[in-house]
Amino acid sequence: MNVEIKEDYPQLCAAVAEQVIASVTAKPDALICIAGGDTPLGVFEALVNASNAGRVDFSHASFIGLDEWLGLGRSDKGSCREMIWHHFFDKLTLRDEQICFFDGLTHDPQAECLRVDAFIAAHQQIDIIVLGIGMNGHIGFNEPGVSPDKSCHVVDLDAITQAVSVKYFGKPLNIKQGISLGIKTIRAAKRIILMASGEKKSTIVAKTLQAEIGTEIPATLVKDHPSITLMIDRAASSQL
Ligand code: F6R
Repeated sequence: MNVEIKEDYPQLCAAVAEQVIASVTAKPDALICIAGGDTPLGVFEALVNASNAGRVDFSHASFIGLDEWLGLGRSDKGSCREMIWHHFFDKLTLRDEQICFFDGLTHDPQAECLRVDAFIAAHQQIDIIVLGIGMNGHIGFNEPGVSPDKSCHVVDLDAITQAVSVKYFGKPLNIKQGISLGIKTIRAAKRIILMASGEKKSTIVAKTLQAEIGTEIPATLVKDHPSITLMIDRAASSQL
């Protein structure tokens, strides 16, 4: 796995955004997946700025969601949908058919999984996926112990993920399940960027790099992808 260390969060986000821009420049109808959560917020900002400056044209691209909390919808603060629309999609001019995102309010999560799998299949593959990493090493909602063979699936959230979720919602919401692209789907992407920022991620970043590939730290399951780069800032690299 290639590792790129940037001096600080803005430089990290600018560099990750350039990776997305390069994918769209090479393939204007690229299928793009960017995680929710705090880590990519600066990437969204850099991409919106690049779009406004005419440096990237998303009009032929498509976007697929990575994951969602089951039971939360667009109007719920901290849902993946709420965050991504607020910081990214609402600031671009996109047509509805360019976006496929998990509906966390669905009464039929299995049907949601099939719908999302079908959207990816219709585009052949995800061209670039930008992942964050959880404090427990999860990517998307692929929690410790996950099977590496899964495509989209419903997930019982790990206790650490449930505890961390309060930072998005501002209060405990007792969400116990999520829905996520699986490791098989993520590994099938053409290009993977695994992104981490800040001192608090330095332990899991070091563990991910040092550990053998295995399900205990799900991020290790993508380490041997042919085109993956771990992109982190100096603070996240402090235990390397
Ligand atoms: C969110 C997601 C998660 C986060 C991870 C890191 O859509 O897929 O895997 O990327 O939990 O979260 P932050 O960036 O908030 O530290």
